[in-house]
Amino acid sequence: MRLSNCHNFHDFRRLAKRRLPGPIFNYIDGAAEDEVTYRRNTAAFENCDLLPNVLRGVDAVDLSVTVMGQKLAMPVYCSPTALQRLFHHEGERAVAAAAGRFGTMFGVSSLGTISLEEARRISQSPQVYQFYFHRDRGLNREMMARAKQAGVEVMMLTVDSITGGNRERDKRTGFAIPFRLNLAGIAQFAVKPGWALNYFMHEKFRLPQLDSHVDMGSGTMSISRYFTEMLDPAMNWDDVAEMVRHWGGHFCLKGIMTVEDARRAADIGCTGIVLSNHGGRQLDGSRSGFDQLAEIVDAVGDRIDVMMDGGVQRGTHVLKALSLGAKAVGLGRYYLFPLAAAGQAGVERALEQMRTEIERDMRLMGCASVAQLTRENLRFRA
Ligand code: LAC
Repeated sequence: MRLSNCHNFHDFRRLAKRRLPGPIFNYIDGAAEDEVTYRRNTAAFENCDLLPNVLRGVDAVDLSVTVMGQKLAMPVYCSPTALQRLFHHEGERAVAAAAGRFGTMFGVSSLGTISLEEARRISQSPQVYQFYFHRDRGLNREMMARAKQAGVEVMMLTVDSITGGNRERDKRTGFAIPFRLNLAGIAQFAVKPGWALNYFMHEKFRLPQLDSHVDMGSGTMSISRYFTEMLDPAMNWDDVAEMVRHWGGHFCLKGIMTVEDARRAADIGCTGIVLSNHGGRQLDGSRSGFDQLAEIVDAVGDRIDVMMDGGVQRGTHVLKALSLGAKAVGLGRYYLFPLAAAGQAGVERALEQMRTEIERDMRLMGCASVAQLTRENLRFRA
């Protein structure tokens, strides 16, 4: 199977599975506990149908949107995700460059494997910083100051991960960072020599946002341990209100799911929220962002930009979310599998397919601009 044979999410996922060592594939592909929420995220889009209008003269179609003050050439963006150089040696460099070519926003994570500053040099597209709130308040202040300095446009605080999700696939495989060639490891990696060669031939794996504070030299760290030991479960609305004031720019909370919390986010001066369950990787059994969209847009859509992520695999999924009032839609595994499969070329191919699908689907819907997608275009099934 080759890149030119990848026509959708599932093709890229299969190719990634072939290239990646099992523990890494399962880290991306897996979710919490029974993975009910993970499956539900995509299934949720099938609860409603699109109602097209015809004969509207849709020769030119404008896919652009403005979200949190950022103009995007298309209504999807690459959500910040962790550890990308583990998936492909180009890592965040590939994603930043691809997002730049498609005129859309991308994120660098606190657990990113290139620095914010380097990402800024690679792409002129709006950059989101996925921020984790650490127990060490000094570290938090230092990270924010550095992000300001680097020219990050949007601060995105993840609020659904104050403790590690129960990811049983990772427990079974022993997934931890950085990778070590212990006895069990050698067997896992020997069967994927292409990946291993690239991983060990390129510069040493690092977490540049954190490495002055986290000692990666002495042993490995599981993602669950990072969340549980380093992040502060005592984080509350007052802490975040202070961060929002301190940042003084676009500030977004990722992982909001209730009307009450959406209102509070608007009250403390956030300019955006992302309805998200972290790709089903945290609280299994939680509702999908798509299923919560209408209720939250109705409550706060006039005060704050509402986005969603989770399970998005198709242009039609994006159209459904936009029709309900989302300002933009985040992609995660959708670009991570292509990254793992083929680096920058893979991410570009996936974004190209998404753009083509959205454009085609808007024509078929009779909509020349994103603003023309409304709830009139959707019917929910009983
Ligand atoms: C995860 C974190 C790191 O879901 O975002 O694994």
